Amino acid sequence: MIDELLIEKIKAFLNIEFKDDKKRLKHIFSVEKMAISLAEIYAIDIFHVRVSALLHDVTKRLSYKENLDLASKSFSKQEINLVPKSCLHAYSAAQLAIEKFQITNRNILNAISYHCSGRKTMSKLEQIIFISDYIEETRLFADDDLRKLAKLNLDKATYEILYKTIEYLKIKKRPISELSIEALEYYKRKMEEINER
Ligand SMILES: [Fe+2]
Ligand SMILES: [Fe+2]
Repeated sequence: MIDELLIEKIKAFLNIEFKDDKKRLKHIFSVEKMAISLAEIYAIDIFHVRVSALLHDVTKRLSYKENLDLASKSFSKQEINLVPKSCLHAYSAAQLAIEKFQITNRNILNAISYHCSGRKTMSKLEQIIFISDYIEETRLFADDDLRKLAKLNLDKATYEILYKTIEYLKIKKRPISELSIEALEYYKRKMEEINER
């Protein structure tokens, strides 16, 4: 399918799916906007970034059972157990991307799958979606310093977001994904290695 046609098809689907949830719709389009601006800085394929951003939360309105059924088609029980229920929509969104929009690009599917938990050794595309989800303009918990940092250094911004998210979840006594903890350690080490050089 021609790139622009696919984007239009996804947007039409989102407009119907989220017709009663304008806040979510606005978030999704703001993630797209932020992700495009980062993709331009880091020379990442704009089409890949747009598809990933537009589909990252596409299953947000589904029930837990629907999310679990979809996610289980692509992910093992063990993989599903690595993320809290609140991140299950990321796995199911990747499966919906495959079924509904015939997305086969592994990098796009990973960017969707790990936008919620993050993970170690993320690709630049994965980092851009992970970061944009947190810093897009309607996110009140993100500040402009973090937005500036994202434009300067993807690894540092990834680390900051993982750190803030984990701290927040600890305070709220909510479950934290093992993938996020591993990712925090990984990006911490990566930054230390750069500082030691
Ligand atoms: Fe999400
Ligand atoms: Fe999101």
